[in-house]
Amino acid sequence: MPDRFRVAVTRRLPKACEDRLRENFEARLGDDDTVYTPAALAAHAAGADGVIVSPAEVVDAPAIAALPSSVKVLSTFSVGFEHIDVAAAERRGIVVTNTPGVLTEATADLTMLLILGAARRASEGERLLRSGTWIGWRPTQLLGVQLEGKTLGIVGLGRIGGATARRALSFGMSIAYHGRRPSPEAPAGARFHAVLEDMLPQCHILSLNCPLTPETRHVLDARRISLLPRGALVINAARGALVVDDALIAALQSGHVAAAGLDVYTGEPALDPRYRDLPNTFLMPHLGSATEETRFAMGMLAIDNLAAVLAGQPPKYRVKI
Ligand code: DGY
Repeated sequence: MPDRFRVAVTRRLPKACEDRLRENFEARLGDDDTVYTPAALAAHAAGADGVIVSPAEVVDAPAIAALPSSVKVLSTFSVGFEHIDVAAAERRGIVVTNTPGVLTEATADLTMLLILGAARRASEGERLLRSGTWIGWRPTQLLGVQLEGKTLGIVGLGRIGGATARRALSFGMSIAYHGRRPSPEAPAGARFHAVLEDMLPQCHILSLNCPLTPETRHVLDARRISLLPRGALVINAARGALVVDDALIAALQSGHVAAAGLDVYTGEPALDPRYRDLPNTFLMPHLGSATEETRFAMGMLAIDNLAAVLAGQPPKYRVKI
């Protein structure tokens, strides 16, 4: 037994988290902040008792199989865990943990930014100003959509969806939501729809806030987009693969969807280039949880989870399947 547990970390973490790792573990920190391939991950984890990964690393069944037998815990610096084959990890006796709760408010803030950015044509406004071609205030310039009085439909009203709904209420919006069952996170007055198709025609703004699972992959397809009222906005701060890109892009091109606010993309960091070319998209590079406070809290929680498993204790957040 070494004096201290050995921990491999794939990415740079906030300084306080890296300091804590160095103080408490034999820590092998990611030093170049690149995404690890499965082979690089296995090499980096050689001899490690635990590994901290980011949502950018694909830890599928082959990657799990390649991990050294010393690894007992995979702690992801994220709430999302679709990048990890949890069943394959469990079969190898590796506990998987994640970081829910601490990124709720930051991600809800970002969701509101996407809603406002899409509704008020923020990308077009910024591009106009930066191009140096703005000729001044005009009564009809870049008219957007007012939020007050509109219905926000949320797919997946968990912690983040609930925090987004509370913010939207303060903008004078009403809330509808769809999920498998009524949510304890739903604010008073939010209308639950067991059938997504029943909710869509009411949504001036549709926000995807559900996890990516086999059931939710491509939940927003051409048929469902066609059920939105013309001129609706589509917002995605959850995962890119919730959306069929061809369908959303066609709807943005035709104007059936007036604008989209997106923080996440299929195949990140690549994204369908048509999103970049469309004027009516407001795009962020997966910044939902990117605040100093939240990334610190995520890092500390990822370390707490890992330390608990290595100490033989139940972690605060073990991913269960
Ligand atoms: C998560 O935690 O899953 C986010 O996507 C990263 O902020």
